[in-house]
Amino acid sequence: MDVLENTTTALRQAEHIMVFTGAGISAESGIPTFRDRLTGLWARHDPQRLETAKAFRENPALVWGWYLWRRQQVLQAQPNAAHRAIARLADGGRQVTVITQNIDDLHERAGSQDVVHLHGSLMIPKCFACHRPAELSAVEQPVPHEGALIEPPRCTRCNGRLRSGVVWFGEDLPAGAWKTAAQTARSCDVMLSIGTSGVVMPAASLPDLALAAGAVVIHINPIDVCMDEPKELMLIGEAGQVLPALIERGLAR
Ligand code: OAD
Repeated sequence: MDVLENTTTALRQAEHIMVFTGAGISAESGIPTFRDRLTGLWARHDPQRLETAKAFRENPALVWGWYLWRRQQVLQAQPNAAHRAIARLADGGRQVTVITQNIDDLHERAGSQDVVHLHGSLMIPKCFACHRPAELSAVEQPVPHEGALIEPPRCTRCNGRLRSGVVWFGEDLPAGAWKTAAQTARSCDVMLSIGTSGVVMPAASLPDLALAAGAVVIHINPIDVCMDEPKELMLIGEAGQVLPALIERGLAR
């Protein structure tokens, strides 16, 4: 049997599917992946320096402006064929759990329910001081250009500065999100791991958890990211091309 047949069979037989996504799934929607950042608009910033509590304390207007710019990019983007195919996967009556490392809302806008964001969200800012989530309407403002300095609004409860709801370098993942992700990895029959380089821990350990628990892990990526475990399957290609056909075949039991 070839890889395509094996993946289709695994999907058809699965009762619980974990969909684990990274930046690659949103690439075809025009949102750059992290490895793309060294080119184009992102070149002027080193995320490892900008996306930290220290950077926010030193220059809150630069860091807030950076996130508002990224949020604006996401709001202008649309879900692609891969996001939509994942939303359709739940139509087959199986349990589908979407765990994403992405900070955009394209899974939700494509129709997926109960998406778990391991690395936080651009859409839900929070207070730097009291950590409470903030109203989105409180932060709507146009961003004139990338790198613009924009003073963060104040928290309506404690007057602290608002910050992005994205997990910064050096911060722990949201505890509830990680617990759900690890439990899902250990209990699913099939994990679809899509568009992730698998280098950022602890998220990168989720496919290992699934394999150790006996699940089949299907990778979808233009480059081979297989770890050469017996229950891994690798589909080389762009998610928007590969996923719709795969899911259509997998849905037909
Ligand atoms: P990366 O930028 O590390 O990897 C993107 C992956 O997507 C690469 O393996 C690409 O080959 C693949 N890719 C590119 N285009 C694709 C396409 N059209 N279809 C499918 N795959 C494609 O992104 P992540 O693995 O998501 O963390 O990065 C993990 C974390 O690193 C991010 O969540 C972020 C960053 O530090 C935080 O911000 C906390």
